[in-house]
Amino acid sequence: MVVLTTDPARPSPEVIKKAVEVLKNGGIVAAPTETVYGLFADAKNDEACKKIFKAKGRPVDNPLIVHVDSIEMAKALAEIPPRVEEVLDKVWPGPVTIVVKSKSVVSPFVTAGLPTVAIRSPAHPVTLAMIRAFGGPLAGPSANKAGRPSPTEASHVVEDLGKEVDLVIDAGPVFFGVESTIIDVTRDPPILLRPGPFTVEELEKYFGKVVVSPTARGVAGAETAIAPGMKYRHYSPDTPLFLIYFDLEEAVRYLKRHGLKVAVLCAVGVCASGDYVIDMGSDLYEVAKNLYKSLRELDKLNVDVGVVPALEERGVGLALMNRLRKASGHREVFNTSDFTKYGLGL
Ligand code: TXA
Ligand code: MG
Repeated sequence: MVVLTTDPARPSPEVIKKAVEVLKNGGIVAAPTETVYGLFADAKNDEACKKIFKAKGRPVDNPLIVHVDSIEMAKALAEIPPRVEEVLDKVWPGPVTIVVKSKSVVSPFVTAGLPTVAIRSPAHPVTLAMIRAFGGPLAGPSANKAGRPSPTEASHVVEDLGKEVDLVIDAGPVFFGVESTIIDVTRDPPILLRPGPFTVEELEKYFGKVVVSPTARGVAGAETAIAPGMKYRHYSPDTPLFLIYFDLEEAVRYLKRHGLKVAVLCAVGVCASGDYVIDMGSDLYEVAKNLYKSLRELDKLNVDVGVVPALEERGVGLALMNRLRKASGHREVFNTSDFTKYGLGL
């Protein structure tokens, strides 16, 4: 594995050239997008796409997002209805992934054999330059081991995928910190499959009504797939994490009384006095940016459990609560007696 660094705003032509060389040879390249770091391969090359699944340990029935540099490139891969194209013209490049009918141009490994394909155009100069120089669509999941929090810095990619990636482009931390919003526009009204930085409130300005299912909210038991990948373990630290819907200080007191060492992930001014405190930020966008880094940090603290406050499911809060429900393995706690449901001698 080689790590090359570049300025995120002005991608080094030599670094992009090297990345294209690796991609043309059927290799895999980790690079930042505005959401999280992605692991990219030639979307039309079966062998290259297979390498992505192998490196991540990803189940082959979980399809990948295809990254394009333009609506034109997307139209070569899928049937894009005119009303959707009009919206894309306004929101791309950006953190909006559309699920549309595939023209079966990309590798069947990318779509996991589905008749649809997920496509987005990333708003990051490095990835955009790479797609443009490569001259074709790139398959790209988040560059983490399957089940782990997505990488928001190059060091997270190295930590998870180390030797398995041919090239890592380090362009510093990402901008948003949670993965793109995914919307299935083959249905009317469209269905939100995964909430992200592009909020439902904004989507509805463009699409009218958008259906937000319990699956999209990350609610327990709702994983039975409206999106193929949603049934798998996601974003999880190894340390048990509790999602707290009541007074955080009271929750921490309860856990400490039971002899547990507690880390507190504070958000939007909600905090408590744990053995360790990680402040994720004072507004929802700052929390999004620090969330995955904080979940990785939690595993390095040697604590018994972590706690994190539930957030309001509005704006980017919907994406954060989806990730927190999954990261906590649905250990949602509404009062202290709920702790007894989850073992750990509570
Ligand atoms: O922000 C992002 O979207 C990042 C960056 C790298 O672009 N990528 C990302 O990819 O999060 P990944 O593979 O970690 O998540 C893609 C999700 C999976 O849950 C997968 O099941 C879903 O997209 N997906 C892919 N193709 C689909 C399809 N045809 N229909 C429904 N869901 C699909
Ligand atoms: Mg992922």
